[in-house]
Amino acid sequence: RIRSVVKGCGSYLPAEILTNDDLAKTVDTSDEWIVQRTGIRSRHIAAPGEMTSDLATAAAKAALADAGLDASDIDLIVLGTSTPDNTFPATATSVQAALGITNGFAFDVQAVCSGFVYSLAIADKFLTSGQHRRALVIGAETFSRILDWTDRTTCVLFGDGAGAVVLEAVEQAGTSEDRGVLTTHLRSDGRHKAKLFVDGGPSSTGTTGHVRMEGREVFRHAVGMITDVIHDAFEATGESAETIDWFVPHQANRRIIDASAQKLGIAPEKVVVTVDHHGNTSAASIPLALAEARADGRIAEGDLVLLEAMGGGFTWGSALLRW
Ligand code: ACO
Repeated sequence: RIRSVVKGCGSYLPAEILTNDDLAKTVDTSDEWIVQRTGIRSRHIAAPGEMTSDLATAAAKAALADAGLDASDIDLIVLGTSTPDNTFPATATSVQAALGITNGFAFDVQAVCSGFVYSLAIADKFLTSGQHRRALVIGAETFSRILDWTDRTTCVLFGDGAGAVVLEAVEQAGTSEDRGVLTTHLRSDGRHKAKLFVDGGPSSTGTTGHVRMEGREVFRHAVGMITDVIHDAFEATGESAETIDWFVPHQANRRIIDASAQKLGIAPEKVVVTVDHHGNTSAASIPLALAEARADGRIAEGDLVLLEAMGGGFTWGSALLRW
């Protein structure tokens, strides 16, 4: 059977690093409070004029180089973002143009922090259907542009960045040794909108708006939703906390990551954590973490990698793949 196999991955982080101590100069907060509640120590911030498509294009180029492929080999781009360059066109089409790709098609996926898992699941359907051959799946965000920098309850949590993977449709034997995306599970429940949203938009206020969040409410729902959708992945594949090699969760908050891993019985040494130096980069957090764990030699070919994310909507989802 055809599976979507990861051929390469890459990432891009803006040069500017904003530390907790830097933030404490402008809002009433402290390094101690932020580290204790979130595990975040620093985050990257896009330069003036540096747009989501710029970050995404840089990450895509790194992923193509890692895969040893040319941009012209790509016939599908799926980009998860909640911070597009423009209301339209899709940021994915700007990336397509920047890469010089004129075949296939490109579109954005809006699922906030679940954007990469959603994008991966969607790309996987196009590849396994046999319609498309090679996809760039990108998560890219400039959340710094939609933060209220006077609101200490939200502005300390987020950062900017982008990550990308190249997926290729490859015939596999259909055994437990198959490489590629093995299963994906997506969920949403729109009743939770008020707990995490942006208070602007083209058809509501006509402004861009800012992130608003009931942090405690988000926290209260996160662990249960994450563990539910991971149980779905284990049930569908027969894999388990013991058989996975790496757990690469959405990097929202150290306490959510630790509580989820503990509830699932996943050993701490299998958990990839980047939230300390990236902050929450929304749809970019998982591919950023994948690129880091791949580059430093942790994730190796043949490893079983479990992804999960949860975010505004609420949306949530999981993906299990063999690298
Ligand atoms: N610095 C100092 N004090 C702060 C800060 C800050 N940056 N932010 C809030 N406080 C204060 C509050 O004002 C409050 O003070 P009060 O008691 O005098 O009113 C006190 O700290 C406690 O506030 P809480 O909101 O109750 O703090 P909590 O322990 O819940 O931590 C946090 C807040 C970190 C946001 C937590 O609720 C959380 O992690 N929630 C999950 C939210 C999340 O990760 N969202 C990301 C997007 S969703 C996603 O990606 C899954």
